[in-house]
Amino acid sequence: MKKIVCDNYNEMSRVAADIVARQLKEKPGTVLGLATGSTPLGLYAELARRYNAGEVDFARAQSFNLDEYYPIKRSHPQSYYRYMHENLFSKVNFAATRLPNGEADDPANECAAYDAGIEAAGGIDLQVLGIGMNGHIGFNEPAEAYSMSTYLVELTESTLDANSRFFTGGEAQPTSALTMGFGSIFSAKSILLLINGAGKAPIVKRLFEGKIHTDVPACLLLLHPNVTVILDKEAAGG
Ligand code: GLP
Repeated sequence: MKKIVCDNYNEMSRVAADIVARQLKEKPGTVLGLATGSTPLGLYAELARRYNAGEVDFARAQSFNLDEYYPIKRSHPQSYYRYMHENLFSKVNFAATRLPNGEADDPANECAAYDAGIEAAGGIDLQVLGIGMNGHIGFNEPAEAYSMSTYLVELTESTLDANSRFFTGGEAQPTSALTMGFGSIFSAKSILLLINGAGKAPIVKRLFEGKIHTDVPACLLLLHPNVTVILDKEAAGG
């Protein structure tokens, strides 16, 4: 696991954009794995800026997102579908974009089709990740056993609390989600984990303790051969 500590959030976002841009240059038909949450917003803004400046091109690239609330309408202000369209997909020129469908009637079918789609695309080249306060990756919550494939998961109180800040318009907050499992995530040839803010320092400390804490899902990433963690000073604990 390679670790890059940046001075602040903007630098973290720029360094992450450099890695995504390099990947797209080396392989224009890249399959990107994308994440939501507040962490990658700076990366997406920087990629949109570079696209407008003619510095990066997504014309042959496609993307798969990590997760989506379930059930949720795509038009819901807090759906990850909407988040991705507002923050990235409407601003750049991807050839194709996919998210797990929060409107699917049959979640099991949807999950199987989603994994089949990733496989048909040749797997993910570069997976962007954030981390939850409890160490979750995507919506893989701390558990006794971790799913390999995409699945329907019930969210923990900790995650519902952490994400309740987004549901301020009186909308009901979904208590379940569809998320890629660790098998889907590990199929990525390389992984970029972004972490910022002092609130994440305790989980970062556990991640870098040199042990695989099985109650910290992100610790499983220690087993992947090609992970780069980019964090700001605050998340790094100074
Ligand atoms: C959300 C998402 C994750 C994200 C995490 C952290 O629940 N499912 O993919 O990495 O929580 O969010 P934030 O970046 O807002 O701290």
